[in-house]
Amino acid sequence: MAKKTDDKMDRLVSLCKRRGFVFPSSEIYGGLNSCWDYGPLGAELKRNIKTFWWEAMTTRRDDVEGLDAAILMHPQVWITSGHVAEFHDPLIDCKTCKARFRADDIAGKTRCPNCGNETLTESRQFNLMFKTFMGPVEDSTAVVYLRPETAQGIYVNFLNVKNSSRQKIPFGIAQIGKAFRNEITPGNFIFRTREFEQMEMQFFIHPSEDERWFEYWREERWNWYLELGIKKDKIRWHEHGQGELAHYARKAYDIEYEFPFGWKELEGVHNRTDFDLSRHQQATGKDLSYFDERFTEKFIPYIIETSAGCDRTLLTVLVDAYDEDPTRGDKSTVLRLSPRIAPIKAAILPLVNKDGMPEIAEKVYHDLKKKFKVFYDDGGSVGRRYARMDEAGCPFCITIDGQTKEDETVTIRDRDSMQQTRHKIAELVYLIGIKVL
Ligand code: GAP
Repeated sequence: MAKKTDDKMDRLVSLCKRRGFVFPSSEIYGGLNSCWDYGPLGAELKRNIKTFWWEAMTTRRDDVEGLDAAILMHPQVWITSGHVAEFHDPLIDCKTCKARFRADDIAGKTRCPNCGNETLTESRQFNLMFKTFMGPVEDSTAVVYLRPETAQGIYVNFLNVKNSSRQKIPFGIAQIGKAFRNEITPGNFIFRTREFEQMEMQFFIHPSEDERWFEYWREERWNWYLELGIKKDKIRWHEHGQGELAHYARKAYDIEYEFPFGWKELEGVHNRTDFDLSRHQQATGKDLSYFDERFTEKFIPYIIETSAGCDRTLLTVLVDAYDEDPTRGDKSTVLRLSPRIAPIKAAILPLVNKDGMPEIAEKVYHDLKKKFKVFYDDGGSVGRRYARMDEAGCPFCITIDGQTKEDETVTIRDRDSMQQTRHKIAELVYLIGIKVL
C-alpha cells in the first residue's frame, strides 16, 4: 500500500517535470537541495492560485487591504517578534554519517535511522532564520534576516495602512510574498522547502470579539479550499495542543490535507492576541493602540491570522487533481484542475491542417488570447492532442472541423466528462469566461 502512494508521488513529480510545472532548481548544476523552479505551466498555475486568493481575501471584500512589504526588514523586528530567541527546531546530528534530524522526528531512538550507529549527538536548538549582510562590511552590525514569515511586514505597517486607507477596526491586511526558513528536513517535493511563498492575512479586532472572528475566518478559509476544487473528504481540521502552539499563538487550528505521504498542514488560523502589536509598541515607543467608538475605549488590537503556503497549495491542487483514467487509452493521465486555476483555459485544435480549418482556428485562437491563456495545437491526431491537454489540466478543447465553415460552429470537449457539444464561435468568449473567471 505504501509503495502505491509513493508511486503516485513519483508519477506526479515526473509529470511536473515533463510538462513544465516544476523543475529542480539549477538542474544543469546537479540541483540545489529543496529548491524548485516553476516552469511555464507551473508559473501560470501559481499565479492563478495567488489571484484566486487575492480576489477572495481583498478584491471581493471591503474590510481587507493589500500590502507588498520588503523581504528585508529592520533586524530589530525579528528580536521584537521573538524569532531570534524562539524560532528554533531541535536538531540532532549523527557523528558517523553526518545525517541531520529534527529531534521530534526521531524521539526515543538511540541509533541513527540512516546508518544504524549509536552515534547521535544530544539535541541542540537550531535557529531557522537565514542571515545575510546589508552593505559592504560583513560584521554583526550589518546582519539582516530573510523574513521567515510575511506577517511581520503587516504588523509594522499597521499604522500606515490604517491611516492611509481610513479603515476602522475590525479590518485586515493581506499580503503574498516570499518567506525563507533554513528547515532541517525539507522534503516531499515542494511541500517543505527553504524558500517558499506565503499568502497571509492579519485581521485586527477588539479583544472581546476574538472568538467570533476566529470562527468566522476558520469558516472562510475552509470554504476557500472547497471553492478551489479540493475534495471535501481530503481536508480536515487539526487543533494545536498546548505543546504545539507557536510562541505567539493562544489558539491555533490547521487545515490539513491527506497527501500520499500522510495528513499534513496546509494552512494555519491563529489567534495571536495582542502579542505582536504590544511587542512592537514596546520596542519602538510608537502608539499602536486604537480608539474604538463602538466600545469607547483604547486598546491594542488582537489579531486573527490566516496563513497559507502558496507552494503547498499548488502541490495540494496537483495531488488532488491527479487522476489516471484507463478509459482514455495509453495516455491516461488527467489533471482535473478547477477551470478557475488551470494554467491553460482552452486549446484550439483544427481537426486537420487543410480545407480552411487552420485559418479559422488561428482567428479563434487570436480572439480568445485577448481574454484567456489559450494554446494552439495542430500536431498529431486529435485524440493525441486531447490527451496532451488532459495531462496539462486544460479544461476545454475547441475543435474546428468540416462543419465550422458551413455554420460558424465548433465543438467544445469537456476534459472531465469527455462530452463534446457544438456552439457558435461568437459565443466562445462568454462560454469559456463563465467557467474560468
Ligand atoms: N505567520 C504564521 C506562520 O508563518 P506557519 O504555520 O509557520 O505560520 C504558515 O506557516 C504556512 O506557511 C504553513 O501552513 C505552510 O503552508 C507554509 N509553510 C511554512 N513553512 C513552509 C516551508 N518550509 N515550505 C513550504 N511552505 C511552508
